Amino acid sequence: MARLRIVHRCNECGALHPKWTGRCTGCGAWNTLFEDVEGPDEPAATLAAGYALVPPGVATPVTQVDLTTGRPTPTGLSELDRVLGGGLVPGSVTLLGGEPGVGKSTLLLQLLGAWPHRSLYVSAEESAPQVRLRAERLGLAHDRVWLLSETSLPNIIAALDEVQPTLVVIDSVQTIADPELASAPGSVVQVRGCAHRLVQQAKRREIPLVLVGHVTKEGGLAGPRVLEHVVDTVLTFDGERHHALRLLRAAKHRFGPTNELGLFDMTESGLQAVPDPSHMFLSDRRTGVPGSAVVPTVEGHRPLLVEVQALTIPVTHAAPPRRSAQGVDGGRLAMLLAVLSRRARIELGQHEAYVSVVGGVRLDDPGADLGVCLALASAALGRPLPPTMVATGEVGLAGEVRQVAHLARRLGEAMRLGYRHALVPASSAVQVEGLRTTPVASLSEAFAAAGLTGGGPGLL
Ligand code: TYD
Ligand code: MG
Repeated sequence: MARLRIVHRCNECGALHPKWTGRCTGCGAWNTLFEDVEGPDEPAATLAAGYALVPPGVATPVTQVDLTTGRPTPTGLSELDRVLGGGLVPGSVTLLGGEPGVGKSTLLLQLLGAWPHRSLYVSAEESAPQVRLRAERLGLAHDRVWLLSETSLPNIIAALDEVQPTLVVIDSVQTIADPELASAPGSVVQVRGCAHRLVQQAKRREIPLVLVGHVTKEGGLAGPRVLEHVVDTVLTFDGERHHALRLLRAAKHRFGPTNELGLFDMTESGLQAVPDPSHMFLSDRRTGVPGSAVVPTVEGHRPLLVEVQALTIPVTHAAPPRRSAQGVDGGRLAMLLAVLSRRARIELGQHEAYVSVVGGVRLDDPGADLGVCLALASAALGRPLPPTMVATGEVGLAGEVRQVAHLARRLGEAMRLGYRHALVPASSAVQVEGLRTTPVASLSEAFAAAGLTGGGPGLL
């Protein structure tokens, strides 16, 4: 008889621990360990049976490998195709992760609506009438989209035989369960076991499969991280709660690059592609106001122009002044404030400082540093920046302006949107026709070139 062993398993990363601890040493998450039984419940036996379904591989000379399989099929959703590098590959498994309410179900329902052949949407969270109503509201209720409200894995697999879809969505992998695994739905054992069996189905039927995975901070459900190595592609869908902008990225992609960014706008009638995000980000910008800088940044291959705003207020009380960073890293803001003070004589130690990136975008790009510094200096000095100027460059601790990647692409986007002057790192020589570039080696040079320093009032 198989021996049972009590283990403690992390719900986030699946790591095993002989004893319970408050923090998983595998991934560092807190309170994610739960008691589990290792033994016959392990999916190994079921997995071995499942692998027998996949035909044996045949070795072939590399030059004779058939290239017709493995080509992506366009999904009909341009922003999704952009992130996937063309579309969904037959037999591939994609995990779409995101926080509850971000719009995963909406995106996938729209995917099925755009898919030209028969597809199956398995909802383990909502009833079929609920999904139908949503599909109708989005104008996607076609006969080729099939719905199944089901949580039991064998029933889902039986439905695949019956419906013969060319694309399957499971919403979500954390709410389905295989009765053969005596573990609760959402546990690592269930999530992994179900995913393994579904992966085999996708490979055997040569159809793309999309799994929804909720990202949970509390660790109540096994997180998408436990599936990362099981699937071919991991997509993340996120956005700020109070903004309509949704960002789709590939965290892992076996069939192409992972640095593309897809942008959607969550509207009354579902997710709309945002083909020209820079235009959208800048549409509400007021020029002539101190504290506003335009930054050309890049996400993957995609250039984006965003507005960075800053506000500084002098304070008299002794407590440390407030700093608030939205869309930029708080630590980075603290470092830039220190550099401004020590290297450019913009002393904000006795000022509250607020920095915000407009539109709910997060700027991880170090090339945004110069723009953040210009916005802060402009706010502190009460002088607006020139309305058609952009600035890009990483700022070092010595106050130097360092080179950035993809400068030509950044400047091309600035030019396209009507900007005519760019402050660029002195060490990068890029010419864009119609755009005047001013190389700057330091923050002081940048402030002088932007007309912020030299004569006039001092710090506000
Ligand atoms: P949903 O796709 O259910 O999110 P998830 O599956 O990631 O949990 O989307 C939920 C939110 O999206 C909900 O708050 C309402 C909003 N929404 C719209 O704004 N417009 C729409 O057309 C739809 C379908 C949803
Ligand atoms: Mg959902």
